Amino acid sequence: METALIACHAEQMDDALWQARFPEVQVLIDSATLQARVRELGEQIARDYGADNPPLLVGVLKGSLVFLADLMRCMPIPISYDFVAISSYGVETRTSGVVRLLKDLDTSIAGRHVLVVEDILDTGLTLSYLMELLRTRNPASLKVCTLLRKPSRQKVAVPVDYCGFDIPDQFVVGYGLDYAERYRNLPFIGILAGIESEVK
Ligand code: IMP
Ligand code: MG
Repeated sequence: METALIACHAEQMDDALWQARFPEVQVLIDSATLQARVRELGEQIARDYGADNPPLLVGVLKGSLVFLADLMRCMPIPISYDFVAISSYGVETRTSGVVRLLKDLDTSIAGRHVLVVEDILDTGLTLSYLMELLRTRNPASLKVCTLLRKPSRQKVAVPVDYCGFDIPDQFVVGYGLDYAERYRNLPFIGILAGIESEVK
Protein backbone atom coordinates (compact mmCIF):
# COMPACT_ATOMS: atom_id res chain seq x y z
CA MET A 1 0.00 0.00 0.00
CA GLU A 2 2.60 2.52 1.18
CA THR A 3 5.06 1.60 -1.56
CA ALA A 4 2.45 1.90 -4.29
CA LEU A 5 1.53 5.38 -3.10
CA ILE A 6 5.15 6.53 -3.06
CA ALA A 7 5.72 5.13 -6.57
CA CYS A 8 2.65 6.97 -7.84
CA HIS A 9 3.88 10.31 -6.48
CA ALA A 10 7.42 9.81 -7.72
CA GLU A 11 6.28 9.21 -11.29
CA GLN A 12 5.13 12.23 -13.27
CA MET A 13 1.64 11.64 -14.61
CA ASP A 14 1.27 12.32 -18.32
CA ASP A 15 -0.37 15.53 -19.43
CA ALA A 16 -2.67 13.32 -21.51
CA LEU A 17 -3.91 11.55 -18.40
CA TRP A 18 -4.70 14.84 -16.71
CA GLN A 19 -6.39 16.10 -19.87
CA ALA A 20 -8.67 13.10 -19.91
CA ARG A 21 -9.78 13.98 -16.38
CA PHE A 22 -10.08 17.72 -17.05
CA PRO A 23 -11.40 17.86 -20.63
CA GLU A 24 -12.53 21.48 -20.22
CA VAL A 25 -8.87 22.55 -20.05
CA GLN A 26 -6.86 22.82 -23.26
CA VAL A 27 -3.07 22.58 -22.91
CA LEU A 28 -1.27 25.84 -23.73
CA ILE A 29 2.19 25.08 -22.28
CA ASP A 30 2.84 21.39 -21.66
CA SER A 31 4.67 20.25 -18.55
CA ALA A 32 7.94 19.37 -20.33
CA THR A 33 8.16 22.84 -21.92
CA LEU A 34 7.27 24.41 -18.59
CA GLN A 35 9.89 22.45 -16.67
CA ALA A 36 12.60 23.23 -19.24
CA ARG A 37 11.88 26.98 -19.09
CA VAL A 38 11.70 27.02 -15.27
CA ARG A 39 15.07 25.32 -15.20
CA GLU A 40 16.52 27.90 -17.59
CA LEU A 41 15.15 30.76 -15.49
CA GLY A 42 16.40 29.28 -12.22
CA GLU A 43 19.89 28.75 -13.58
CA GLN A 44 20.00 32.25 -15.07
CA ILE A 45 18.81 33.87 -11.82
CA ALA A 46 21.35 31.87 -9.80
CA ARG A 47 24.12 33.00 -12.15
CA ASP A 48 23.00 36.65 -12.07
CA TYR A 49 22.89 36.91 -8.28
CA GLY A 50 25.68 34.47 -7.47
CA ALA A 51 26.25 32.57 -4.26
CA ASP A 52 27.56 35.70 -2.48
CA ASN A 53 24.41 37.78 -3.04
CA PRO A 54 21.53 35.31 -3.10
CA PRO A 55 18.06 36.86 -3.27
CA LEU A 56 15.22 36.48 -0.83
CA LEU A 57 12.44 35.04 -2.97
CA VAL A 58 9.09 36.66 -2.20
CA GLY A 59 6.28 34.51 -3.49
CA VAL A 60 2.85 35.96 -4.07
CA LEU A 61 0.28 33.54 -2.66
CA LYS A 62 -1.32 31.41 -3.69
CA GLY A 63 -0.61 31.25 -7.39
CA SER A 64 3.20 31.39 -7.29
CA LEU A 65 3.64 28.43 -4.93
CA VAL A 66 4.25 25.72 -7.55
CA PHE A 67 6.48 27.93 -9.69
CA LEU A 68 8.53 29.09 -6.69
CA ALA A 69 8.96 25.53 -5.44
CA ASP A 70 10.30 24.32 -8.80
CA LEU A 71 12.29 27.48 -9.55
CA MET A 72 14.32 27.50 -6.33
CA ARG A 73 15.29 23.87 -6.85
CA CYS A 74 17.01 24.93 -10.08
CA MET A 75 19.05 27.57 -8.21
CA PRO A 76 22.19 26.05 -6.68
CA ILE A 77 22.81 29.02 -4.35
CA PRO A 78 21.71 29.62 -0.71
CA ILE A 79 18.05 30.63 -1.05
CA SER A 80 15.52 31.88 1.49
CA TYR A 81 11.91 32.56 0.75
CA ASP A 82 8.90 34.29 2.21
CA PHE A 83 5.34 34.93 1.09
CA VAL A 84 2.86 37.75 0.78
CA ALA A 85 -0.80 37.32 -0.02
CA ILE A 86 -2.52 39.93 -2.11
CA SER A 87 -6.02 40.02 -3.43
CA SER A 88 -7.19 41.93 -6.47
CA TYR A 89 -9.78 39.39 -7.54
CA GLY A 90 -12.64 37.75 -5.71
CA VAL A 91 -13.73 34.38 -6.94
CA GLU A 92 -14.25 36.05 -10.30
CA THR A 93 -11.87 36.42 -13.21
CA ARG A 94 -12.43 40.15 -13.60
CA THR A 95 -10.03 42.55 -11.97
CA SER A 96 -11.77 44.77 -9.45
CA GLY A 97 -8.92 47.29 -9.47
CA VAL A 98 -8.86 47.07 -5.69
CA VAL A 99 -5.68 45.54 -4.28
CA ARG A 100 -5.47 44.40 -0.66
CA LEU A 101 -2.57 43.02 1.36
CA LEU A 102 -3.90 39.89 3.06
CA LYS A 103 -0.60 38.62 4.48
CA ASP A 104 2.63 40.54 5.00
CA LEU A 105 6.20 39.22 4.98
CA ASP A 106 7.49 37.53 8.13
CA THR A 107 10.98 38.94 7.61
CA SER A 108 12.58 42.36 7.22
CA ILE A 109 13.90 43.06 3.71
CA ALA A 110 16.00 46.14 4.55
CA GLY A 111 19.38 45.80 2.86
CA ARG A 112 18.48 42.49 1.22
CA HIS A 113 18.27 41.50 -2.43
CA VAL A 114 14.61 40.77 -3.07
CA LEU A 115 13.19 38.87 -6.03
CA VAL A 116 9.41 38.87 -6.24
CA VAL A 117 8.10 35.64 -7.77
CA GLU A 118 4.67 35.89 -9.39
CA ASP A 119 2.55 33.45 -11.35
CA ILE A 120 1.14 35.84 -13.93
CA LEU A 121 1.31 39.51 -14.83
CA ASP A 122 -2.08 40.48 -16.16
CA THR A 123 -3.13 44.13 -15.71
CA GLY A 124 -0.07 44.79 -13.53
CA LEU A 125 -2.14 46.25 -10.68
CA THR A 126 -1.10 43.61 -8.15
CA LEU A 127 2.62 43.80 -8.86
CA SER A 128 2.82 47.59 -9.07
CA TYR A 129 1.11 47.82 -5.67
CA LEU A 130 3.46 45.23 -4.18
CA MET A 131 6.60 46.79 -5.69
CA GLU A 132 5.70 50.22 -4.30
CA LEU A 133 5.11 48.71 -0.87
CA LEU A 134 8.37 46.73 -0.82
CA ARG A 135 10.42 49.68 -2.13
CA THR A 136 9.52 51.72 0.98
CA ARG A 137 11.30 49.06 3.06
CA ASN A 138 14.70 49.79 1.52
CA PRO A 139 15.81 46.48 0.03
CA ALA A 140 19.32 46.40 -1.47
CA SER A 141 17.65 45.56 -4.79
CA LEU A 142 14.15 44.69 -5.94
CA LYS A 143 13.42 42.61 -9.03
CA VAL A 144 10.53 40.67 -10.51
CA CYS A 145 10.29 37.16 -11.92
CA THR A 146 6.95 36.18 -13.42
CA LEU A 147 6.17 32.84 -15.02
CA LEU A 148 3.56 34.26 -17.39
CA ARG A 149 2.73 37.66 -18.84
CA LYS A 150 -0.24 38.81 -20.91
CA PRO A 151 1.26 41.83 -22.71
CA SER A 152 -2.02 42.89 -24.31
CA ARG A 153 -3.75 43.23 -20.94
CA GLN A 154 -1.22 45.40 -19.13
CA LYS A 155 -2.69 48.61 -17.68
CA VAL A 156 0.14 49.60 -15.36
CA ALA A 157 3.78 49.40 -16.48
CA VAL A 158 5.72 46.99 -14.31
CA PRO A 159 9.35 46.35 -15.25
CA VAL A 160 9.89 42.60 -15.38
CA ASP A 161 13.42 41.24 -14.98
CA TYR A 162 12.64 37.57 -15.67
CA CYS A 163 9.66 36.25 -17.60
CA GLY A 164 8.89 32.63 -18.46
CA PHE A 165 6.37 33.05 -21.27
CA ASP A 166 4.34 35.77 -22.94
CA ILE A 167 0.86 34.37 -23.54
CA PRO A 168 -2.25 35.54 -25.39
CA ASP A 169 -5.16 37.23 -23.65
CA GLN A 170 -6.90 34.09 -22.43
CA PHE A 171 -7.75 32.87 -18.97
CA VAL A 172 -5.28 30.19 -17.95
CA VAL A 173 -5.15 27.65 -15.12
CA GLY A 174 -2.75 25.05 -13.78
CA TYR A 175 0.74 25.02 -12.27
CA GLY A 176 -0.54 27.09 -9.32
CA LEU A 177 -3.09 29.18 -11.22
CA ASP A 178 -6.73 28.68 -10.37
CA TYR A 179 -10.27 29.34 -11.35
CA ALA A 180 -12.31 29.63 -8.14
CA GLU A 181 -9.55 27.66 -6.33
CA ARG A 182 -9.65 24.77 -8.82
CA TYR A 183 -7.00 23.48 -11.23
CA ARG A 184 -3.95 24.66 -9.23
CA ASN A 185 -2.50 21.14 -9.23
CA LEU A 186 -2.44 20.60 -13.01
CA PRO A 187 1.20 20.09 -14.08
CA PHE A 188 0.73 22.18 -17.23
CA ILE A 189 -0.70 25.60 -18.15
CA GLY A 190 -4.05 25.28 -19.87
CA ILE A 191 -6.79 27.47 -21.25
CA LEU A 192 -10.13 27.12 -19.52
CA ALA A 193 -12.88 27.00 -22.12
CA GLY A 194 -15.59 29.62 -21.93
CA ILE A 195 -13.86 31.94 -19.46
CA GLU A 196 -13.19 35.54 -20.45
CA SER A 197 -10.26 37.33 -18.79
CA GLU A 198 -12.35 40.43 -18.51
CA VAL A 199 -15.38 41.93 -20.16
CA LYS A 200 -13.99 44.26 -22.81
P1 IMP B 1 -3.07 41.70 -12.19
O1 IMP B 1 -3.12 42.51 -10.93
O2 IMP B 1 -4.22 42.06 -13.11
O3 IMP B 1 -1.75 41.74 -12.90
O4 IMP B 1 -3.44 40.23 -11.78
C1 IMP B 1 -2.54 39.39 -11.26
C2 IMP B 1 -3.23 38.27 -10.54
O5 IMP B 1 -4.50 37.93 -11.08
C3 IMP B 1 -2.39 37.04 -10.69
O6 IMP B 1 -1.46 36.96 -9.64
C4 IMP B 1 -3.41 35.93 -10.67
O7 IMP B 1 -3.64 35.52 -9.35
C5 IMP B 1 -4.67 36.55 -11.24
N1 IMP B 1 -4.81 36.23 -12.67
C6 IMP B 1 -4.67 37.06 -13.73
N2 IMP B 1 -4.86 36.43 -14.90
C7 IMP B 1 -5.13 35.15 -14.58
C8 IMP B 1 -5.40 33.97 -15.38
O8 IMP B 1 -5.43 33.96 -16.63
N3 IMP B 1 -5.61 32.83 -14.67
C9 IMP B 1 -5.58 32.76 -13.32
N4 IMP B 1 -5.33 33.82 -12.55
C10 IMP B 1 -5.10 35.02 -13.17
MG1 MG C 1 -1.35 35.66 -8.12
